[in-house]
Amino acid sequence: MDRKTALVVGAQGVIGRNLVEHLATLEDWDVIGLSRRGGEAAGRVRHVAVDLLDPADARDRLGGLREVTHIFYAAFQDRPSWAELVAPNLAMLVNAVEAAEAPGLRHVSLMQGYKVYGGHLGPFKTPAREDDPGPMPPEFMIHQLAWLQERAATRGWSWSAIRPAVVGGTALGNPMNLAVAIAVYASMAKELGLPLRFPGKPGAYDKLLQMTDSGLLARATVWAATDPRAAGQAFNIANGDLFRWTDLWPRLARFFELETAPPLPMPLDTMMADKEPLWRAMIDRHGLAPTPYRDVSSWRFADFIFGLNYDMFGDTTKARLFGFHDTVDTEAMFLAIFRDLRERRIIPWPNRHNKAAIEM
Ligand SMILES: NC(=O)c1ccc[n+]([C@@H]2O[C@H](COP(=O)([O-])OP(=O)(O)OC[C@H]3O[C@@H](n4cnc5c(N)ncnc54)[C@H](OP(=O)(O)O)[C@@H]3O)[C@@H](O)[C@H]2O)c1
Repeated sequence: MDRKTALVVGAQGVIGRNLVEHLATLEDWDVIGLSRRGGEAAGRVRHVAVDLLDPADARDRLGGLREVTHIFYAAFQDRPSWAELVAPNLAMLVNAVEAAEAPGLRHVSLMQGYKVYGGHLGPFKTPAREDDPGPMPPEFMIHQLAWLQERAATRGWSWSAIRPAVVGGTALGNPMNLAVAIAVYASMAKELGLPLRFPGKPGAYDKLLQMTDSGLLARATVWAATDPRAAGQAFNIANGDLFRWTDLWPRLARFFELETAPPLPMPLDTMMADKEPLWRAMIDRHGLAPTPYRDVSSWRFADFIFGLNYDMFGDTTKARLFGFHDTVDTEAMFLAIFRDLRERRIIPWPNRHNKAAIEM
């Protein structure tokens, strides 16, 4: 068996955590997860705690990892403006690769997104294709890829770049988790006896959007890092369907046994700022796991997604042509995430008496 060792950079993220979980199911991989907070070792997975903004810390803790064959880069540092994102995010990539680059390194995978098409700036050409021209810099993902391509050219390892749409996953404590934000927002609406209103900007309710399931993304990322045809390529990776909130929102409401009401712009970053006491009360009342409110509060990111009053989707033909064919139904994905959050007692069951009866 061709044994490989993955260094998953950003292993506690919405994306990185699922990548670690996926790699852990594959017999030919050993996995090292990297983040500042670290994690518990289990089976073929171990963790290192490193602050990648500190090059000396990166060298000290990663320099000895001579067994790494594949680096999967999915770390992220947030900043208030697009321009300010460049320096820290480029530095983290450079520090990770330079410190962990051993003679056996074969591939570096870079997690990107539709920001490379300017999708965060305003209406852009859809469906976006991998060879579409990017926006004017500064854009951290474009700077990262340029550095990676230049480094790969002289070092003898290959690269791939993965471009997901909005990612659906169950990780907690992450600033960019739309599904968790919807689940907590809906659970609070239920608690307050309110209908589930779409809280986004006017014009956002009927636009065409796309999601990427975090499990599908993990499979695509490993595929692109190991299939020789995918080396030196960028791929849009998404579920395979498109949706509009007009259609999906009422279906999500039904899961929570909620009525809907016409959309009303309610920036969640503002509206949810005073809801920590309510969250604590829900934990007590429903016997939930004691999850800190900040760990389920991706409100700024949810506002960004609910504020997309233009179409946001990429063309995934290239990945299919190169050999990746997985598909996920987006409604089923959301409902599976909500069910998982219930099973883990992160959010309540709609009727706790029913749940108690089921468990008896
Ligand atoms: N989430 C989405 O919907 C989405 C969609 C498309 C593209 N993307 C892109 O995918 C990438 C990853 O996103 P994500 O949502 O998975 O991010 P995330 O949930 O915020 O995860 C970021 C990871 O980076 C680690 N990290 C942050 N600063 C670090 C540092 N100084 N040193 C070491 N590790 C550090 C974090 O762990 P610690 O905090 O413990 O250090 C965490 O594991 C980003 O470039 C993002 O733009 C995300």
